[in-house]
Amino acid sequence: PPLSRILNLGDLEDVARKVLSYKALAYYSSAADDETTHTENIRAFSRYFFNPRVLRPIGHCDPSTTILGFKSSIPVFVSGSALARLGHPLGEANITRGAGRTSIIQMVSSNASLSAAQIAEARLSPAQPLFFQLYKHRDLEVAEQRVREVEALGYNAIWLTVDAPVPGNRERDIRAPFVLQDQERETEAAKTAGERPKQPEDAAEEEENVNLLGTAGALISHADINMSWTETIPWLRRVTKLPIVIKGIQCVEDAVLAAEAGVEGILLSNHGVHDHSSLPSIDVLYKLRKQRPDVFDKLEVYIDGGVRRGTGQFIALPGRRATANDVLKALCLGAKAVGLGRPFLYAHSAYGEEGVVKAVQILERELITGMRLLGATNVNELVPEMVCGRALDII
Ligand code: FNR
Repeated sequence: PPLSRILNLGDLEDVARKVLSYKALAYYSSAADDETTHTENIRAFSRYFFNPRVLRPIGHCDPSTTILGFKSSIPVFVSGSALARLGHPLGEANITRGAGRTSIIQMVSSNASLSAAQIAEARLSPAQPLFFQLYKHRDLEVAEQRVREVEALGYNAIWLTVDAPVPGNRERDIRAPFVLQDQERETEAAKTAGERPKQPEDAAEEEENVNLLGTAGALISHADINMSWTETIPWLRRVTKLPIVIKGIQCVEDAVLAAEAGVEGILLSNHGVHDHSSLPSIDVLYKLRKQRPDVFDKLEVYIDGGVRRGTGQFIALPGRRATANDVLKALCLGAKAVGLGRPFLYAHSAYGEEGVVKAVQILERELITGMRLLGATNVNELVPEMVCGRALDII
């Protein structure tokens, strides 16, 4: 359909599901084990309700904010996800240009299809901010070199992923025959993933030799699985002057440790795919707000996972809802911004750069409507009192 017929992020996902190859869809959309964490991530938002305020002038409404001091037209950023070329030949550059045109910030995956340099090159101007998601290589020298490289390229922050020491068990991903085409592999990481042994579908005699890592597993096989609070964060601080965000905090206790470690931000996230029944990010945010409101004064808190309309042929969900509501609930509870992973993969797979622009325009329109209905005209007016759990507990 023409872009003018696309009304919400769910529509973009529907188009992407039609155009993506089987292996790309399996990799982009799968989650671990029975995929319940992914479903719960999405569902969790609908357990929170708004307390809208009325009779407030809402004529001028501005959803913009800053993330680590960098301006963003809406409180939404792109959460880094690997291998954008599986969805579209121009890969991550679609997202970089779309983000530049709409003034939002892209976090670039360590396992992007394009190199960090090519993505920096795709910016509309060197002033366009870019964040880098780091999987710390287990070889310290390689890890250090990577950080220095992206700093030299003009990236503006390091987002250290800590929630994927080992791959989740993504069975649809593992089952999908996976051979990277030449045009899909640019980086070393992508090449490693492409060297995955042939799948059982390809040859019955290889049945016993199923690669139980899947694409996701192959990509993170070099990651350091011995990272720690005492070594890794001080190491990163020594290596770079850039702000540091820890990506993948899943409980209040670790959020407090991150504040003590002095990092600039935390991304409450379960990677959108793991399945050891970790709490949905919005629930972790709620607990953090309630138990340790002081943490929000020490660093910026972000969340990702499941921010979108509930849709999808693999995961049955009860209807669709406005994506911006999820964002606004998170902001009311103290999040500075919200990350979207899959929705941007789907948007760029379906329509390239224009799809990314469209996704941001949809979000902006939904956000302004949502803020007006709440009685808020800027992000500072989104406060915890505007969100509650079940509304019945007062009666
Ligand atoms: C990811 N994610 C991810 N995270 C990361 O730190 N490095 C990476 O390379 C990737 N790659 C990746 C690939 C794919 C296909 C998915 C779906 C996810 C996790 C990502 O950054 C983010 O945390 C989640 O995608 C957020 O959940 P939603 O928005 O996809 O529900």
